[in-house]
Amino acid sequence: MRRFTADYLERTRRGMWESREALAPLDLDGRRRVLDVGCGTGELTRVLAEESPEAAVVGVDADADLLATARDAGDGGAPDDRSDPEGGRGSDRVGRDIDYCAGDATRLPFPDGAFDLVVCQALLINLPDPVAAVREFARVSSDLVAAVEPDNADVEVTSTVNSEPSLEARVREAYIAGVETDVAMGDRVCEVFAEAGVSGVESRRYRHEKRVEPPYSEADLTDIARKASGAGLADHETELRRALDGDDGNGARSGNGEPGRNGDGGRNGYDALRGAWREMGREAARQAQNREYERVETVPFDVTVGRV
Ligand SMILES: C[S@@+](CC[C@H](N)C(=O)[O-])C[C@H]1O[C@@H](n2cnc3c(N)ncnc32)[C@H](O)[C@@H]1O
Repeated sequence: MRRFTADYLERTRRGMWESREALAPLDLDGRRRVLDVGCGTGELTRVLAEESPEAAVVGVDADADLLATARDAGDGGAPDDRSDPEGGRGSDRVGRDIDYCAGDATRLPFPDGAFDLVVCQALLINLPDPVAAVREFARVSSDLVAAVEPDNADVEVTSTVNSEPSLEARVREAYIAGVETDVAMGDRVCEVFAEAGVSGVESRRYRHEKRVEPPYSEADLTDIARKASGAGLADHETELRRALDGDDGNGARSGNGEPGRNGDGGRNGYDALRGAWREMGREAARQAQNREYERVETVPFDVTVGRV
């Protein structure tokens, strides 16, 4: 299972749910029991709780560390048993309870029809068998099944640093090649739903626009510093090394054992990319000091719904 840090999830979801328009097909207002599968740190789970005031909301994830962060977020922590490392109660921003528990998306610890909405965000793209997961969503739902999945192949970046869009495109391309699941599912989410036996499948594309411009927030400055240090690339180092260096993910290399594909001595390998990336980051930092740096990243995501 691919692991994510709480910091990565917080950074990449920032501002995503300022507009809740994309959640309209989920009919959140009238829901009674809502399940967020692969909830991570609960970024979407808290939004679901806020938008479905009548519902009991539950988040489930396979990663106990992320669940602990989810439980401690919200209004500052609900009074509950903190002795359970794999679950417990958290809350949304206005203090409504959210229950969290550990579980596998393909073997959910709930009876048939226990929820009237089962939803996930950025989970299917990270699973080796997304159809099995959606089939399981359909088992525990009595009504709607939904997925919010980004299309990583269609991300667009513009920047005042000339090299940034092409470097980002190179990193994205290598990441997609090096990752072992379908992180750019796009339209195929509909096929996954249909294959899992979900009916009336509908999908709509939305865009999450992330803007960096003066005056910079603390978070913007941290992101720029992460570019300059190379830390931003390290989030996906395993996948990038697999694609660029022929690394098998366990430290072993394919081919002639030298870094860099096709025995090129690493000129196109991870370390070379990291060098170019850091140079780009230093230029972004220089521009930011003069309040000249601007960047817009647009991440398309598909909201797919269907009935059981
Ligand atoms: C990209 S993160 C998305 C987290 C959250 N939904 C969000 O969008 O902020 C993918 C999440 O799926 C979880 N995950 C991966 N495989 C899983 C599985 N088989 N069962 C349950 N959770 C899983 C990971 O632990 C991680 O929290």
